[in-house]
Amino acid sequence: MTANEKYINRRIVKTDWISTIRDWRKISGHRKRRIINNSLGCEDSPLQVVEYKIYVPSKYGINGKSLFLFSDIHYTEQCEAPDVYLDVIGKVKPDWILFGGDLITYASQIKGAFEWLERVSANFASIPKIAIPGNWDRRRGRWFPQRIWNEKYKECGFHYLVNQEIIIDGVRFYGVDDLRGGYPEIEPRDFDSKYFNCLVSHSVESVVDVVGNGESFGDNIVLCGHSHGGQIRIPFFGALLTSTKYWKFFEYGHYKNRKAHSELVVTSGVGTSRFPFRILCPPEVVVIKFVNNPEK
Ligand SMILES: [Fe+2]
Repeated sequence: MTANEKYINRRIVKTDWISTIRDWRKISGHRKRRIINNSLGCEDSPLQVVEYKIYVPSKYGINGKSLFLFSDIHYTEQCEAPDVYLDVIGKVKPDWILFGGDLITYASQIKGAFEWLERVSANFASIPKIAIPGNWDRRRGRWFPQRIWNEKYKECGFHYLVNQEIIIDGVRFYGVDDLRGGYPEIEPRDFDSKYFNCLVSHSVESVVDVVGNGESFGDNIVLCGHSHGGQIRIPFFGALLTSTKYWKFFEYGHYKNRKAHSELVVTSGVGTSRFPFRILCPPEVVVIKFVNNPEK
């Protein structure tokens, strides 16, 4: 594929943001998120564990399975210790672990970041792990090409998906490249309906226009990070900045598409960028719990 063709693919994302917003309905936001630290026995964890129940047809055979999603680490030496994550993941006992991008902000942190990630993942060697690029990771492509990222993630036991898919235990994961630093390639097509589809994109901008168009992705869920939930939240207002063209609409939470079956979860992630602090927006990790849909 030539650079020019990649550029055309990147443009398949619509710019009609008004129709996109009409298509998506917000189910829950930051205020009504379901925090499960108490039921897990993680009351003292600096990470909030937020759970979403996603109802899926029984034919996929994933009833009761769970997916652990963490995003936007933006690694620095001040990151929470790996032990904090080991504790939470150990209690969740997920069937898949998914990293939603933005491992680093600065190129100088890449070595420490992957050492940190390796310590987190080493304890869960038997659990399938997937990662996708974030916009900050892609910015650092000048120093670290995709080959390096592939190698590093592989050493940590992660499948690194950039416009690629992988089928693991009944779920087809498709990782989308980031819109700002990369070339997302995602087009509706007839997926084999044997598998439930999980589309993972760092930013909602790369996927919501395309996925909301119809049902050609089959049954699916879309998982995103990037917004940081605003990182600084104002009482009764929420995020001021989200770094997307949709501003507050996809700032955080659980959404459903009015036309297609698609559901969307946007996490606020764990780290910080630009400002080295969070206000009224604690670091969070997400548990997606798949539950049989009694109507299907
Ligand atoms: Fe980020």
